Amino acid sequence: MSNQIRLDNRVAIVTGAGRGLGRAHALALAARGARVVVNDLGTELDGAGADSTVADAVVEEIRQAGGAAVANHDTVATAEGARGIVKTALDAFGTVDIVVNNAGIIRKKPFLEHTADDLAALVAVHQAGSFFVSQAAFAVMKDKGYGRFIFTTSVGGLRANPNVAAYGSAKAGIVGLAYTVALAGAPYGIAANVISPYGATRMGNAPLTPSDPGRANIVRSEFVSPVVVYLASEQCKLNHEILTVGGGAVARTVIALGPGWRAPTPEQLTPEAVHEHLDAIMDVARFSNPLSSDDEGALFLGPAIAAAQRR
Ligand SMILES: NC(=O)c1ccc[n+]([C@@H]2O[C@H](COP(=O)([O-])OP(=O)(O)OC[C@H]3O[C@@H](n4cnc5c(N)ncnc54)[C@H](O)[C@@H]3O)[C@@H](O)[C@H]2O)c1
Repeated sequence: MSNQIRLDNRVAIVTGAGRGLGRAHALALAARGARVVVNDLGTELDGAGADSTVADAVVEEIRQAGGAAVANHDTVATAEGARGIVKTALDAFGTVDIVVNNAGIIRKKPFLEHTADDLAALVAVHQAGSFFVSQAAFAVMKDKGYGRFIFTTSVGGLRANPNVAAYGSAKAGIVGLAYTVALAGAPYGIAANVISPYGATRMGNAPLTPSDPGRANIVRSEFVSPVVVYLASEQCKLNHEILTVGGGAVARTVIALGPGWRAPTPEQLTPEAVHEHLDAIMDVARFSNPLSSDDEGALFLGPAIAAAQRR
């Protein structure tokens, strides 16, 4: 196929690529010609332990299929670990073009049972991990004027689940980080987008997630990776977007801002006025999706500022 999307001469880092979705992404990127750093600490689902064979096995799989890959066993959760991951790419392949921030852990329990350690551990791997790896790679991409970031959020962060307070906090934070990288990267040819995936992995099947037997076959990890390959490609001009993907479906997710209700003057926005105009305030039938804090400020506060200037 002549118009096939290829990643030849591109170097990709996939974090948490030893299992589940990350493994599928690494195999898919390599199959399109990318040279891949397979990062995985090899932890349990809750973040305990380490096992270097997890990343090594995927490197072997890629090589067996004729692709190029190296393993990295650093944690994403520290700045030092993240620098080590990027250094592996530079040492083995000379650069980095693509980063898939995918590594993750989960601890499911009711909100009141979450400990300070649960929150710290989840934020460290998901949010700080995505931050550190992206920052280390961004420096390389900025110099070369090209880069593609794919961040991984979750329905647990975007829509919530009563048992994932720490996980959901961390996953929602990734959206703010990704949006910032998208704006910071745009002048340098660097794009950053987010996926919210569905995958029948050990995490996807973790306790407290209702699932029926037919579901696993529908939400196979391989069904997410084509979107990652697209977002990692030169052909992809998207930036600052969230794509929800799984089971053969892919859709844009936005953070909707409704038109709202505007008091005639700022002083007239009283608690009683909020109560009285709640239907208009809550109406998102005609929403917008501002793509930066400046854009939202102009849209949301602009009419009040213009009105004040007219007064
Ligand atoms: N499976 C789903 O349905 C689903 C849904 C939404 C989001 N996600 C997200 O997708 C990503 C992949 O999840 P998965 O379902 O494939 O889980 P998984 O448990 O199968 O794989 C996650 C991998 O990350 C690795 N890892 C954990 N901590 C690490 C660290 N500090 N440094 C490096 N590697 C580390 C683990 O060893 C593991 O191999 C996660 O970010 C997860 O939050 C998954």
